[in-house]
Amino acid sequence: MRSSAPDYRLTVAPMMDWTDRHCRFFHRLIAPRARLYTEMITTGAILHGDLGRLLDFSAEEHPVALQLGGSEPDDLAQSARIAQKWGYDEVNLNCGCPSERVQRGAFGACLMREPALVADCIKAMQDAVTLPVTVKHRIGVDNQEDYGFVRDFVGSLVQVGCTVFFVHARSAILKGLSPKENREIPPLRMSVVRQLKRDFPDVVIVANGGLQTIDQVRVVMSDAAEGPGVDGVMIGRAAYHDPWLLRDIQAEVLQDADRLPQRRDDILPALQTYFESQRARGISARYMGRHWHGLFHGQPGARRWRREICEGVLGPQALFTQLVRQAHQD
Ligand SMILES: Cc1cc2nc3c(=O)[nH]c(=O)nc-3n(C[C@H](O)[C@H](O)[C@H](O)COP(=O)(O)O)c2cc1C
Repeated sequence: MRSSAPDYRLTVAPMMDWTDRHCRFFHRLIAPRARLYTEMITTGAILHGDLGRLLDFSAEEHPVALQLGGSEPDDLAQSARIAQKWGYDEVNLNCGCPSERVQRGAFGACLMREPALVADCIKAMQDAVTLPVTVKHRIGVDNQEDYGFVRDFVGSLVQVGCTVFFVHARSAILKGLSPKENREIPPLRMSVVRQLKRDFPDVVIVANGGLQTIDQVRVVMSDAAEGPGVDGVMIGRAAYHDPWLLRDIQAEVLQDADRLPQRRDDILPALQTYFESQRARGISARYMGRHWHGLFHGQPGARRWRREICEGVLGPQALFTQLVRQAHQD
């Protein structure tokens, strides 16, 4: 049981097929303070699937949140109970995914059009567990992109006691765009996220979308003429492709040196131990290594590391040793 207040300043976005347990373990080594999120898991999968495969995670991953996809209050409540039993630190409801499959299931971003139903879902989960129940959402859906739409959505959830919102600063386009296109189009509007912070000063507002540099993070977290800074950031693709950014945000924005690695190879002994323990459980080297390709992003040898860690022939420590040896010979 964790007693300290949750820290939302630095979070890593839920990303399907990407932020599995192997990716999260790796991120944890790089940024000990980051709050980590699972891929979205539907209530259907949790209520009828293989729980060990879906939910198991390493103790080192704490604090880690389970992101749920669903829109039935009872199913969400039951899934939240299961999340609590498995030791997750938070349950997050997905109200931002635009995929057609998710729309067919009537959840994800289309839920923003049904704030009363989402409020019922949140209440049902809050009644079922003692964990924080949080929401990740967009700033609009299709042509409903006036500020009042997202303000009223957040407002109705605040009324039932939801206090943490992860806001992807672009609208979701439900027809005609793929999920991938929906992460580039339409343009980001971070000012809307800031406006939410101004209008709901007592709740936690975490900004998400397109954050790729320390300076961008600093700006959105700082007070400005347009209003107070947001409480935290949620980093998605940049954390996956250039994970050292998480370390730099913890060091320079959070100014928190606790357990922070100084050099990229500092994390390799622990990563190697993890790699071996997972190999012994039958997990393939490639399956894990594909998430670790970005460790040396922008550094000498990055290309070879990326290629070879994904091939999974050598574990992280052995591959690094080989690359260093080769660099000396060149
Ligand atoms: C491969 C991939 C999978 C994603 N899967 C999810 C998901 O399961 N749940 C969710 O809420 N968002 C998902 N997202 C959206 C991200 O959480 C995030 O909101 C989006 O990428 C914008 O942040 P970024 O610009 O920092 O990447 C996904 C994004 C990517 C790239």
